Amino acid sequence: MSIAQNTETTAKLRCIACGSTPDSAAQDFRCTACGDLLEFFFSGWTFDPAALKALWLSRRASCNLLDQSGVWRFRELLPHISEEHAITLGEGNTPLYHLPLCARAAGVENLRAKHQGMNPTASFKDTGMTFAASSAHERNFRWVACASTGNTSASMAAYAARGNMHSLVLIPEGKISWGKLSQALDYGALTCQLRTDFDGCVRILNDLVRQKPVCLLNSVNPYRIEGQKTAAIELMEQLAWEPPDHIIVPGGNLGNSSAIGKALLEMRDLKLISRLPKLSIIQAQGANPFYRSVREFGGKKLEPMTADTLATAIRIGNPASWKKALRVLQATGGEVEQVTEVEIAAAKAEIGADGIGCEPASAVTLAGLKKLRQSGFVKAGESVVLILTGHLLKDPDFTIKFHRGELLAETPAETASAQAKSLQRAPVVLDANLGAVIAALDAAERNS
Ligand code: F0G
Repeated sequence: MSIAQNTETTAKLRCIACGSTPDSAAQDFRCTACGDLLEFFFSGWTFDPAALKALWLSRRASCNLLDQSGVWRFRELLPHISEEHAITLGEGNTPLYHLPLCARAAGVENLRAKHQGMNPTASFKDTGMTFAASSAHERNFRWVACASTGNTSASMAAYAARGNMHSLVLIPEGKISWGKLSQALDYGALTCQLRTDFDGCVRILNDLVRQKPVCLLNSVNPYRIEGQKTAAIELMEQLAWEPPDHIIVPGGNLGNSSAIGKALLEMRDLKLISRLPKLSIIQAQGANPFYRSVREFGGKKLEPMTADTLATAIRIGNPASWKKALRVLQATGGEVEQVTEVEIAAAKAEIGADGIGCEPASAVTLAGLKKLRQSGFVKAGESVVLILTGHLLKDPDFTIKFHRGELLAETPAETASAQAKSLQRAPVVLDANLGAVIAALDAAERNS
């Protein structure tokens, strides 16, 4: 299959607040007129939906690397980037799993998870990073940079390495998991652990990119959002273009919810799908500025906060893309929820018990679904897809502490024990003899 690039379509940048349409973006990807975020919009889209679906499906059988990527396969709905600049690790193409035990726990009949942790660097960031790193390469950048709670840095470092670019990572000291930090180091990033939080890292990076010729690869970069749209397109293809009633995503910096929502709206406009799923966004209670913005201020403003949660990926107090996320929340009729540390830990263990697993930030989706069921927003008979954003092995510390009963030590014991105890599977330390192992097996059988 030849690479028919999308040359008739024009992709232009537009400010989400004042609507100005610059020919190119400034280094910080902010509107030079009003300082708000930019997004891509498309003109000249005249696709036959059935032909487009058939073309995308046919590429699955192609030997071409770009056709095989779960991002570049959908390039008709993305801005144009020349093929010779494309940096791909075969991202996307992630599985959609049924979660029968979680469905029972949440009280819904039809629950599935699209596992974006099954990407090359084990998080959803790769779908945006392949596209944004390629655009940096096309624009001849030697250096790319990001502030990160860990996954963005791991992904950026990998794609920079594959594209022969240097990468600079700013991360909060002590507040990212070892798995993620070790990835950035192995992929060769210049990794700076700053004595601040994620929001502090973002502030410094924004100042840096105004002074140095480095390409900013955080999700304010609209190429990131375009690449991340493909998770929703691929999901619809996996569902034979029959949308679920609900899609539930974690909310941190709010780039991912914006991207998935943008894709849903575009697919609806192009008649690739006939109706919109409701897109709901879940935050950790200790890092809930968007929840508070919607619930307390009707989305009129967002008050930054000092964030704190053991789900370090979403430990973010001043989310950059909150206005984009608000727009898709309203356009799809979704809801916003917050969940506690105990609820996150229990949900993570439940996703694990379905033989899937994920990192803590991803588990807010199941914890949030339970709340949305309780409030009646999600009905028992409705179909739900959770977007799991990161792999279980990203944060083994959290998992081991949870199963040993050490994670929630500072949480009021009763709630912690009621919700979490039955899910804990601490390793059993035994003398090295057969009798001890048989006794452990018999005891486990009696309790099962
Ligand atoms: N889940 C995981 C595993 C994440 O790493 C992130 C964000 C999110 C959810 C939230 O997505 O920011 O688009 O709302 N991680 C970023 C990082 C901030 O630096 O890796 P979002």
